[in-house]
Amino acid sequence: MTKAFVVGHPIKHSRSPLIHGYWLKQYGLDGSYERIDVAPVNFGDFLKSFRSQGFAGGNVTIPHKEMAFLSVERRTAQAERVGAVNTLWIEDGVLWGDNTDVAGFMAHLDASLGTGWEQDVETILVLGAGGAARAVVAGLQNRPCKRIFVANRTLSKAEDLVRDLRRGSPVALETAAWEALPRVIPHAQLIVNTTSLGMAGQPPLVLDLSRAPRHAVVADIVYVPLETPLLAAAAAQGLRTVDGLGMLLHQAVPGFKRWFGVTPEVTPELRALILADIEAHR
Ligand SMILES: NC(=O)c1ccc[n+]([C@@H]2O[C@H](COP(=O)([O-])OP(=O)(O)OC[C@H]3O[C@@H](n4cnc5c(N)ncnc54)[C@H](OP(=O)(O)O)[C@@H]3O)[C@@H](O)[C@H]2O)c1
Repeated sequence: MTKAFVVGHPIKHSRSPLIHGYWLKQYGLDGSYERIDVAPVNFGDFLKSFRSQGFAGGNVTIPHKEMAFLSVERRTAQAERVGAVNTLWIEDGVLWGDNTDVAGFMAHLDASLGTGWEQDVETILVLGAGGAARAVVAGLQNRPCKRIFVANRTLSKAEDLVRDLRRGSPVALETAAWEALPRVIPHAQLIVNTTSLGMAGQPPLVLDLSRAPRHAVVADIVYVPLETPLLAAAAAQGLRTVDGLGMLLHQAVPGFKRWFGVTPEVTPELRALILADIEAHR
């Protein structure tokens, strides 16, 4: 039997066991995926011992993603760019780390908008400069747009992000002050919220979208609630919207493939299962 885990602290709210459990059943695989609560002080020991406990690898979540980044022996290019690792596996005896939020966000965007959506996109606006923003920008900067603006309440964090991700970037990365958003929005064909604003219990993200391009797409990576105030405002303006749940589902695909050997599908049934869980816990 192949075993995988999600490790974090706390970990009881993670929806990853539901996602991987669904796929294990769907593909009739002899495997398990379990939650493991490990305090930061014990994380180094956990990384050394999970192999001897029979695990093929697993997911890493808050607060261990940066420590995992520093501790793995090899990293994928995506993990390298983001500076955080959320997926671990062993290959030829070597501990590898990936950041699958990058592929997860892009796969969901492609699935929602159809491949080739970039043809109409020159300017992208990303709101936020935390860990998720790094993954989103790292994914978007490989697509053929012209420039990505990163706006954040704390401008210095946006400057750090742009400095780190600008190296080798095929597209121009620039910061935008939060107060400058009214001047940037009319040029942005894709607007992505990666801040925690709009999440249940947080204030809404209020943007004036009345001057956004008519064909602009507004994406939110917050998925509780599924329709955030930002997405509701975008829909009210007649703009296309992309919700945050697909990113969560798609980011799980590469790990499942590494541990269990099957590339799983993100199905409407899986989405409905996770949505029902979100509703049940609101
Ligand atoms: N869909 C998915 O699969 C997925 C994956 C990862 C994360 N997420 C969601 O993405 C969100 C961000 O995650 P993260 O890991 O990047 O968090 P993080 O590293 O803590 O970053 C939080 C970001 O939100 C901004 N922010 C927080 N409160 C704000 C406020 N009152 N006004 C303006 N900006 C504010 C912060 O700005 P400052 O720098 O100014 O503090 C920062 O840019 C969370 O809601 C998380 O659940 C979703």
